[in-house]
Amino acid sequence: MDRRRLKVAILGAGTIGGAVAMALSPHFDVCATRRRGSIAPGLIEAGVEEAPSNREAAGWADLVILSVKPKQVMPVLEEISSVEGPRLLISLAAAMPTWILERICHIPVIRAMTNTACRIRRGYTVYANGRGVSQAEEDLARDVFRSMGSFDRVDEQHLDVLTAMAGSGPAYIYTVLEAMILGALKVGLPRDIALKAAAHTAIGASCLLLDSGDHPAELRDQVITPGGVTIEGLYELEEGRVRTAFMRAVFAASAKAVELAETVRGQAEVRDSVENPRGVN
Ligand SMILES: NC(=O)c1ccc[n+]([C@@H]2O[C@H](COP(=O)([O-])OP(=O)(O)OC[C@H]3O[C@@H](n4cnc5c(N)ncnc54)[C@H](OP(=O)(O)O)[C@@H]3O)[C@@H](O)[C@H]2O)c1
Repeated sequence: MDRRRLKVAILGAGTIGGAVAMALSPHFDVCATRRRGSIAPGLIEAGVEEAPSNREAAGWADLVILSVKPKQVMPVLEEISSVEGPRLLISLAAAMPTWILERICHIPVIRAMTNTACRIRRGYTVYANGRGVSQAEEDLARDVFRSMGSFDRVDEQHLDVLTAMAGSGPAYIYTVLEAMILGALKVGLPRDIALKAAAHTAIGASCLLLDSGDHPAELRDQVITPGGVTIEGLYELEEGRVRTAFMRAVFAASAKAVELAETVRGQAEVRDSVENPRGVN
């Protein structure tokens, strides 16, 4: 297959599907669907085609990316299950394990989690292969993930917790940045410079963390002068139990992701017992 001409269908061009479509549009032929209404004008301008239906999109594509909400996954997969054409499905839906997806779609499946920064190709994507994904198919998926930013392969058992980190993470970071900006506004810094100072500081600190390989506590210590400015701020953060709050946030969001996954699994088992009451396969 000619990778430069890879045809990608994105089923569910909402927040994350739209972001992925935007990232892929310069590198692949991309079409996208929504349940109702048109795909965003920005996607059309970027060269993404609007497909009339999920079936037509899947029939045209080499690779299908599923980016609907978890409860919409089954109806969409049932709709495209008999379509010939695509050789790989990448599911971005939270909580949906590969074994459930594989039962319906009959092609190799990769489950992934990404975040909204993939719109500008700065996302972080983690993925796990389902059964029978060949090296060539994984390479194809990695080409797609590369267009969206950085990526890593992980054990599927970690994907629910990573939903709370990689998927939800931008919401936590924006909360921190917003609070820093508000603090700067309180002391009178102009809005535009407060925003740039917060955002660029976060980018620089993250890049240094990744490049140096040092522990965050070590890098934080390098910023602290005894009796200086930084320790005053850190003291207030400790008073506010900020680290505990973040640990609790990741723990609570992970627990929610696991709960969602258990509900999905339970529903699949109920459906199995209705369709196959004597356990005959
Ligand atoms: N948002 C994030 O930051 C993020 C990050 C990583 C993963 N995810 C995962 O990505 C999935 C989508 O989340 P989201 O936040 O992007 O939700 P969203 O904004 O609601 O997007 C879902 C899209 O799916 C479309 N859709 C629903 N049923 C459909 C159907 N039968 N055929 C075609 N399109 C259909 C919807 O169309 P309409 O617009 O017409 O209703 C909507 O555009 C979820 O499973 C979520 O776990 C989200």
